[in-house]
Amino acid sequence: MLHKDDQLLKEQANEQIREHGSLVQRDPYRLHYHVMPPVGLLNDPNGLVYFNQLYHLFFQWNPFQTDHGSKFWAHMTSKDLIHWEWQPIALAPSDPFDKNGCYSGSAIVHENKLYLFYTGNVRDQAGNRESNQCLAISEDGITFEKKGPLFTVPEGYTPHFRDPKVWKENDMWYLVIGAQTEHLQGRALLYKSQNITEWQLVGEISDKEKPLTDFGYMWECPDLLLFDNQDVLLFSPQGIEPQAYQYHNIYQTGYLSGVLDRQTANFNHQEFIELDNGFDFYAPQTTVDGQGRRIMFGWMGLPETDEAFHPTKDYRWIHAMTIPRELTLKQGILYQQPVKELTQLRKEPLLNQQQKLVDEVVTLHEIHHDALEFIFQVHAIKGKSLEVSFSEHTKLVFNKEMQTLTLHRNSIKSYQSEARTTDLQELTELRVYLDVSSIEVFVNQGEKVFSARLFDAIPYHELTLQVNGTLDYHLQAWSLKNVMK
Ligand code: FRU
Repeated sequence: MLHKDDQLLKEQANEQIREHGSLVQRDPYRLHYHVMPPVGLLNDPNGLVYFNQLYHLFFQWNPFQTDHGSKFWAHMTSKDLIHWEWQPIALAPSDPFDKNGCYSGSAIVHENKLYLFYTGNVRDQAGNRESNQCLAISEDGITFEKKGPLFTVPEGYTPHFRDPKVWKENDMWYLVIGAQTEHLQGRALLYKSQNITEWQLVGEISDKEKPLTDFGYMWECPDLLLFDNQDVLLFSPQGIEPQAYQYHNIYQTGYLSGVLDRQTANFNHQEFIELDNGFDFYAPQTTVDGQGRRIMFGWMGLPETDEAFHPTKDYRWIHAMTIPRELTLKQGILYQQPVKELTQLRKEPLLNQQQKLVDEVVTLHEIHHDALEFIFQVHAIKGKSLEVSFSEHTKLVFNKEMQTLTLHRNSIKSYQSEARTTDLQELTELRVYLDVSSIEVFVNQGEKVFSARLFDAIPYHELTLQVNGTLDYHLQAWSLKNVMK
């Protein structure tokens, strides 16, 4: 189904890179080891898959503007999850069934070919939405042939029906997809197929005994993760109100863990848990790689709220992916750890110190780099609090009395200080990845994570530690390579 418009659109997109690429590269806030768009807007990770010894990462891309619009699927590949190569554009919104966007979806390998499932977003003349679940196939993993729609919205649901995620078990294919009921409630639906093209609706994924009926108006980007005999439904609900320390971003991302019955879609599960406690995280996607690891990328951003105020827009680009993370499940809790390959980014160590501090503020003069990793192991902490400052505005505060951990930053929109907090009984380790305009904090071996973009004055100041009480710690830090040039 290759036609002129498709080539023309891709050509116009490539022209944007040629025209504005050098401006984009001049942005001092450009990151050093995160996937970013070469120009324009990036949002969800799509089609994450390991195929023919390569990791393939696609993403939602608007090459023409730093706003949301008719999305393309950009395509990057990597041997090691660290060094990425730009590939020809995979999908352009050029057909009647996807003309207003090749929206999010997933990839699987079948008979040594790459299959992409995505949502063809269509607006009719009156502005009404249509949603087609489409297929595209590639033999070489580089050029994709669109095969058109496979199915559309089932009865009882609105056209907010998108983001198919496909996987295989035994001889059956399964697919989860985000949906909205006619009563405007968010859901995830389960489909199955024997031949990969004809899909049968199994039903709404729901706990028949205690259904989560009133939980937002739309669930985006569902993903079903299998760990031994436990299932995890990961999704991004919209329309959840803040509750204590939870759900303070415009939209959320989190998961339910339990056991999914593939025949009935009954899902006996625990409570919803937010996946990231920071400011900028949404629509993640996972895959199982050649080593059997469950790898996840998230969009280190969110739609709407702050987007108009990102300073990178002046340089014609916006948003980035998180670093790749490995997921494991322990007692129903998802742990996220930076993939081990990220240690390749380390340059010479900046610091390796074992110390005891009593009611003190110390400045770590060794650490004032734009891109760094540090591992802070807390052997013992007594007293009130511990504060780690990365800049004038960005700091992490562990309040031992309150049993909370808080990330403070300067708001992108208002320049006022803002905070995100999570309950934390004990602090044993902080592993922090700081890039030029982002921070990712992995707490206690990935039990909790904070992701956020930062537009502080760069280069960063020296790091400071402030202890209210006594602290016994081991701190290691490295400056990190720039692999995104
Ligand atoms: C999530 C999302 C998806 C949709 C895509 C469009 O951020 O809204 O539901 O497929 O982005 O770019």
